[in-house]
Parts: sequence; structure tokens; C-alpha cells
Amino acid sequence: MRTAPGRVRKGGAEGDSREDRCKKRLPHHQQQIDSPTAEAVGHPKRWATQDTVGHGERSLSREPTPDYHGDMDENFLQGARGFAESLVARAGEVVREMSGRTRIERKADDSMVTEADRRVEALIRGAIADRFPDHAFVGEEMYAGRRGTRPMIEAEYCWVVDPIDGTRNFAHRFPMVATSIALMRGDRPVVGVVTEHTTGTVYSAVAGEGAHCDGRAMRVNNEAISRDTLVAVPSGRHQPILPIIRDWVDRYVLRNVGSTALHMAYVAAGAVDAAFGYECKLWDVAAGALLIDEAGGRCTGLDGRTPLPLDPRGYDGRDMPFFCASPAVFEALLASLAAPGGKWKS
Ligand code: IPD
Ligand code: CA
Ligand code: CA
Repeated sequence: MRTAPGRVRKGGAEGDSREDRCKKRLPHHQQQIDSPTAEAVGHPKRWATQDTVGHGERSLSREPTPDYHGDMDENFLQGARGFAESLVARAGEVVREMSGRTRIERKADDSMVTEADRRVEALIRGAIADRFPDHAFVGEEMYAGRRGTRPMIEAEYCWVVDPIDGTRNFAHRFPMVATSIALMRGDRPVVGVVTEHTTGTVYSAVAGEGAHCDGRAMRVNNEAISRDTLVAVPSGRHQPILPIIRDWVDRYVLRNVGSTALHMAYVAAGAVDAAFGYECKLWDVAAGALLIDEAGGRCTGLDGRTPLPLDPRGYDGRDMPFFCASPAVFEALLASLAAPGGKWKS
């Protein structure tokens, strides 16, 4: 993605220090934040999305998505960003209220889910249905245990939501717990919001309008690669440690906070220099990809070349391996990540 022609990114100047990167307060969109209009749990509304199994052939046209600023109202996007920010705030209330008090279950793929995951998704889904009845919706929990499910989306816009990213953290009361919301137009995220609920930090972006951390412009870190480079690495549940992690552990500083959405937000904010993941889903990465793009970073598939296939139309729940980094370290890390032999594979 790119900044629309003639538009000036509102992010900080290149070369800002890691400490400075979030300090430039800008006039923000917050006056435009609207509260969702309805209570949402268990909302029975109609959806532009229907969940069906095995109808992937049906019509999911792959017309190129029009340029996001060609015919989109900026006020609409800023309003949608404010709306998404109000939703993650409401999600945070549920997360805090239910922390330590919710039953843990296992999905068909053995991953954890709690009542809080479902409640947050229902809240967000219902509020979106009230506010944007013509928009489609894809959320992690509506897919739960239903491999091969494809949403049939005919709407122009689709919301892609991970109600709780870091469910394992939540279940253990480990503090890094996030909610991730992206508004997609075709295969392009046009609004992205990720929040960390313990601190309440909100990372947000609008396509072509820059990225913000708590209302301040944020940019990726632009320091050259060194022993101090921070790289966020995935957990790799039930798998031997990845060769690339063995390779990097002596060369860089590795971090894993247990939330892909936060790893990506941290790259955008310049708090870490790069991140990758391979068991991630559309809802883990859709908002983060926009944050990184708008903060001046690069986000691709694990080969460093192919763009992340973010199109929710026909998404079947498959994994979406990704690599993201500041331009300053992208090529150097990619050289080992995408080396012959696929060092990111176990
Ligand atoms: C998980 C987290 C985790 C990543 C997994 C994701 P969830 O999401 O982002 O960091 O390693 O691949 O599935 O299940 O907590 O929403
Ligand atoms: Ca997730
Ligand atoms: Ca989740």
C-alpha cells in the first residue's frame, strides 16, 4: 500500500529516536468519535455475510479494489476509526470485568477460547450491525472449529475482528491482551485499530492518513540492524523451536508477548524492529498490516515479496504467514528468514 498521491503522511520525521516516535501530538480525530448506538450481545440482525461451507466457487469476484482515496469520503474513514476505537474501549471493559472469572474451553483445533472471547465478539458484531447494516463481518469466533467455512461477502466493506488476541495470556491473567479491528474494502484494510487492554494503549491507522499511538503520530524505528535490534517471534505451539529463532537468538534481541496483533502494533510504533508469524489468521494481521504500512514499515508474506493476501471474501481460515519490519532492517532479516531451506519452518 502507499500514501495516496498528493497526501502528506502525518507521521513523525524519519530518524526520530525510539523514545520520540510517539511524542508528537497531533490534532486528532477524537472529536469525531461516536458511541455505538446499540447494546449488542447476541444481536439477531441480518448480515451481508452468511456462513456457509464449501461454496467458495460462488461468485467471489476478484475485481481489483478501487483506490481507497479515489472515491472514499475521508470523514467516513475517520468516523469509522473513531467508532472502532469506541468498540475496543467497550471490549476492554468486558476483558477487565471477566479476567480471572471465565471458563476456558478448547476449540476443535485445541486452541483456547473463553466466554469473554465470545462476548466481546458479539458486542462488536452487534454494534457494527446497528451502525453499518450494509457492511459484512468476519470474526474469529464465528469460525470456531469450522474449517473450510467461507464467508459469502457481497458488501463493499467488511469488518475483520479478533475479539481477544492473546486468549492464552487472558486465561493466565498475563497482561498482554488485545482486541484487533480492521475495516476492509475488498482486499485492502482502510481502517485498523489494535488496543492493549491492560495499559489501554490504542494503535490506529486510516489508509493514506498515517498511524497513531494514543493520538500521537507513530513511525517505525529506522535504526540500522545491530545487536540491539528487537524482533518479535511467534510461539510455535507444540512444535520444536524454529531454526530461525536459534539463528537469531545470539544476534538480535528476541521478544514474544503472545499476541500477534500487538507484535505488529509494536513494529508500527517502533517499539520493536520486526516481527513474523506463521500460524496467524486474517483477524490476527488485517489491522496490524495497515498500522505498519501507514507507519512507514513493510509487511509481506514470509518470502518478503508476496503481499499478504488479506481479502476476506472467501477466506477459509487458512494460516497467513507474515513478515513485517522497518525498512532499515527488512532486507537484512529477510535474507536469513527466506533463505533456502526455509529456516522459519521447524
Ligand atoms: C493467537 C496469538 C498468538 C499467536 C497465535 C494466535 P488468539 O491468537 O496471536 O500470539 O501465536 O498464532 O492464534 O488465539 O489468542 O486470538
Ligand atoms: Ca488472534
Ligand atoms: Ca482471538
